Parts: sequence; C-alpha cells; structure tokens
Amino acid sequence: MNIIFREKDIPNIREFDVYVKHDGYKAFEKALRMKPIDVINEVKASNLRGRGGAGFPTGVKWSFIPQSEPIKYVVVNADESETGTFKDRQIMENNPHQLIEGALIAAWAIQATAVYIYLRGEFWDIAHALDKHIEDARQAGYVGENIKGSGWSCEVYTHLGAGAYICGEESALLNSLEGKLGQPRVRPPFPAQKGGGLYSEPTVVNNVETLANVPFIIMNGADEYKKIGTEQSTGTKIFCVSGHVNNPGNFEFPMGEITFRQLIFDHAGGIPDGKQIKAILPSGGSGPIVPATDEILDTPLTYEDLQKHGTILGSASIIILDETVDITWAASKMTKFFKHESCGKCTPCREGTYWLDKVLDRILRGEGKPSDVDLINNIAANMQGVTLCALGDFAANPILATIKHFPNDFMAHVGGELKAAGD
Ligand SMILES: Cc1cc2nc3c(=O)[nH]c(=O)nc-3n(C[C@H](O)[C@H](O)[C@H](O)COP(=O)(O)O)c2cc1C
Ligand code: SF4
Repeated sequence: MNIIFREKDIPNIREFDVYVKHDGYKAFEKALRMKPIDVINEVKASNLRGRGGAGFPTGVKWSFIPQSEPIKYVVVNADESETGTFKDRQIMENNPHQLIEGALIAAWAIQATAVYIYLRGEFWDIAHALDKHIEDARQAGYVGENIKGSGWSCEVYTHLGAGAYICGEESALLNSLEGKLGQPRVRPPFPAQKGGGLYSEPTVVNNVETLANVPFIIMNGADEYKKIGTEQSTGTKIFCVSGHVNNPGNFEFPMGEITFRQLIFDHAGGIPDGKQIKAILPSGGSGPIVPATDEILDTPLTYEDLQKHGTILGSASIIILDETVDITWAASKMTKFFKHESCGKCTPCREGTYWLDKVLDRILRGEGKPSDVDLINNIAANMQGVTLCALGDFAANPILATIKHFPNDFMAHVGGELKAAGD
C-alpha cells in the first residue's frame, strides 16, 4: 500500500497537473473549510507519529503552538542526514506536491505565516526542482496572498544548509536557517514556544515523510488512517534498507505488516553470495545495533516492537551487516562519524567521541588491552543523558550496544574473554 510513494501507482505524479488530477490539493481545500483547531484534532486523532526519528505525536506537537501569537512558522526538516536514510529525497523527487500540500495543511492548522523547507546542502538540485513545484502551486492559488479566498496568506520557501549532520537536529536547524552557527539550542524554550522557534517565534518542525502523511489523514479522516498499521504505530512507514542486501532501497509498508525477515529476504533480495546475516542497525548509526537472531528477524516493524528489543525504529534506516563484518570495525566507523559531526558545544560529546575514537583505533591496531573495552564502555556510559542534544546519546550507542551483543568481536582484538549478553 502506497500512501507516500504514490508515484509507484501514478506515473509523473510529481507534475502539478497530474497531482491535481489525482485529487491533489483537495485535502488542503478541505482543511481550509475546517477550523484550524479541528485540523489539529484530526491529526491528533490519527496518532500520526513523527517520522524524523523520535516518533513524537504530530497533532500533539501542533497543539503546543500558542494560537494567539501573530507570527508562527512551519519548518520542514528535509536535512535527511541520518546514516542510511534516503527516503525524504525520494518523496521530494517523485511526489513533491504531497509534501507541499502537507506542509500547507500544517501551516493552516497553526495559522503560520510562512513555511521553510530546510534541505541539506547536497540536495541543491532537489531544492531547485521544489522551487518550480512551489511556483506551480502558487500559480494555482495555493501559495501566497489570500490563499483560495480564505483571507489567510502563507509563503513557502526552500533553504539549503551546508551539509552538517547536526543541522538535522531541530534547534541546530533553526540556528542554521537564521544564518547562525549550526549548534543545538538550550531548551526550554522549545521551538513551539515564543522565544524558542525560528526568529524566536512559535514554530512547528516536522520531517518530510511526516508531513507527506497529512493530506491522506485530512482527506480520508483519522479513523481510516488508523486502520493502517498498529494502534501505537499508525499508517505506513518507509523502510530504507542498505548494507549487505542484494536489492537495497526504500520500501513502504503498513507498520507491523512485515517483519525484519520479510523485509530483508522477500523485498531487499536477501544477503549477497549466500552469506549469513550477522547484525542489524535498525536506525542507522544512531540506534542500538541488534544481533540477527530468529527472535529479532521475526519482529514486526513497529515503534513498540523494536523498543521491546532495546532498540529503536528511528527513521527506519535499516543497515544490514553480514557474517564477514568485524563489529569492532563497524563501531569504529560509526564513532568516527559522530566525532566528525559533533558540534563541540558540550564536553561529554566533544571529548567523549574523541577518546572513543582514539581507544578504538588503538584496539584495531592490535595495541589494545582487555581493559580498553571496559574503558570505552565506561566513556560511552558517561556520555548518556548528559548532553544538550541527542547526538551525545547516539554516539554512545555504537559502543554500548556492540559490546553488549558482540563482546567476542572486541576480545578478538585485545585477547581476553567476555560473554555475549544472554549467554
Ligand atoms: C543529531 C540529530 C540529527 C537529526 N537529523 C534529522 C534529520 O536529518 N531529519 C529529520 O527529520 N529529523 C532529524 N532529527 C530529529 C529532529 O530533531 C526532529 O525531532 C524532527 O525533525 C521532528 O520532526 P517529526 O516530529 O516529524 O519527526 C535529528 C535529531 C538529532 C538529535
Ligand atoms: S551533544 Fe554533541 S552535537 Fe549535541 S550539542 Fe552537545 S556537542 Fe553538540
């Protein structure tokens, strides 16, 4: 079932005329006939959860915006910087009007004066194409002054970042959008509050995939939407599959309809050269790794089911590692990424990633001791929950979860014995 990837059913839906011919912008027109608060309540009732990683309920987020403030913004997070995530790009390239329509519905719901679509710097070609699509929507009266005679005006802009992972974090994104250094802000105030959002005005920040769900919800109602997926994970989800699979790519399914095993073997083509699957990163480098046991492989893909196994669905950037992968090497690669992307604002993240990288390099050179494994475990544990943004926690995960599940991969480098969790 394709709610988001409608280009699979309707060729050229990226073009305005084709989109409109297939009921495009009808949900927005319907929303304009509804009271803004009713739009918020419909999205709340759908239990749509943010697809950017944290899974926060979208309607609840919109309801935090103080309606009495005259200036409010919607910011679309199109930074797509999580390792292994490549879904927002496909939405913007192939079904861009659904994102624009979803963002406009969000803007009407909170009575925003402007929508900013913030894209990572490498997406300059997508930004140029989006500008054209926004112009097409403007010519039809969906963007700009007095939209469809509603008396409400709203502009839609694209904005390119410079390609930093941290600028996907919403408060760093807002700083970057304002032309400031892309570093997270101290919260509170949160973006939804006066003083915490873009140019200090109340702001809703939502992921591309999240907003692309909204037209379906408004058009068909929350009850129809809730029929898809599970109670806690409604709707479809795009799963980005990469790594050791024969057929990497994006796959859209109702949440809970398929398991890891079905996704990897029935849709992503299985593991190349008949090798065994060893581990899964369900949420790129930032979520805890899990061993590819039968129990994990048979887990349905929902927020709640992955949580039961001590990991997260995040933005569903699923990276598959086969039996040839040395997990210590993988931990080192992930650590180098987080060290490079740490903005340096807080000490545990700045110094912690530096030390983790240094000790891991020593271990991989064959100069480490068994106590070095305890040392990195300790450093990572001390980074958790004490940093300004979640990158500090993300950077701890590749160490804590890899040592927990694959101790022997570490011990092979340092000599010594450790048992896997559960052995
Ligand atoms: C280090 C870091 C990087 C992030 N990168 C992204 C990103 O590239 N895209 C995204 O949508 N959310 C990203 N997020 C999550 C955002 O901060 C925010 O939660 C999200 O945009 C909210 O939208 P949603 O509620 O629709 O998911 C990131 C968070 C952190 C801590
Ligand atoms: S946790 Fe890391 S990335 Fe986040 S604010 Fe602190 S130093 Fe910057």
